[in-house]
Amino acid sequence: MQKTLIAPSLLSADLGRLADEIAALESAGADILHLDVMDGHYVPNLSFGFPLVSAVRKLTKLPLDVHLMVTNPELHVPVLGEIGVQMISFHQEAVFHSHRLIQQIKQNGVKAGLALNPATPVSSLESILGELDFVLVMSVNPGYSAQAFIPSSLEKIARLNGLKPGFQIEVDGGVADTNSARLIEAGADILVSASYIFGSKSYSNAIKALRQNTIL
Ligand code: DX5
Ligand code: ZN
Repeated sequence: MQKTLIAPSLLSADLGRLADEIAALESAGADILHLDVMDGHYVPNLSFGFPLVSAVRKLTKLPLDVHLMVTNPELHVPVLGEIGVQMISFHQEAVFHSHRLIQQIKQNGVKAGLALNPATPVSSLESILGELDFVLVMSVNPGYSAQAFIPSSLEKIARLNGLKPGFQIEVDGGVADTNSARLIEAGADILVSASYIFGSKSYSNAIKALRQNTIL
C-alpha cells in the first residue's frame, strides 16, 4: 500500500495568519494544500480566488490542489496554471464539456480531477475515467466545511478502487480520525480535511491520526 497523502483544506485556516498556518502544516507533515474556490453560484458560499491562491503559492513549495466549486471553471484554468498549482478539480454538473476541460487542464501542465457530488454516481465517470489523474469523491455536499460525513461515500470509493489503476482517489468532506481508517481501507489515496485538522490542538497529531493504518 502507498503512503496516504494528507491535504489540509485552507477553508478552515486562520487567513489572518496564513504564513504561520502554512508553516505549521508543513512541519506537521502535510503533503498537499487543498484550496476550495467557491463562487456563490455553483455553491451557495463564497470563499476566495486568485489573490489568495497566488499568496499561498509564494509561501510554500507543497503541491497546491485547487477544488473549483464554480460555474464556468474553464475560465480559470489558464491563470491557475500560470500561478503554478499542481492539481485542479471541477464538478461535471458545472460544465457542458468535461472531456475538453480535462484536456485543457492537462495542457496547462496541471493534474486533472473530476469531483463527484454525493448524488452523482460513479457510473457517470465511465467514459472519462481513462483521462483523469484523480477523482475527488465528495463525502459532503460542496459548499461548507464542518458538515457530517456521508457514509455511502465509502462504497463509491471502493467501487472506484475496483476500476484502478490510472487515477488517484481523493476524498473530501467530514474526514476525521473516526473514519480515516475505513476510507484508506476502501481505497482513498488522498484525504482532504479542514475542520478536523484546524480544530485540533496539534496539527501534527491530527495528521498522524488521519494516516492511521497506513503502511509507510
Ligand atoms: C467543502 C469543501 C471541503 C471542506 C472540507 O465544500 O470542498 O474541502 O473544506 O471541510 P471539512 O473537512 O471540515 O468537512
Ligand atoms: Zn474541497
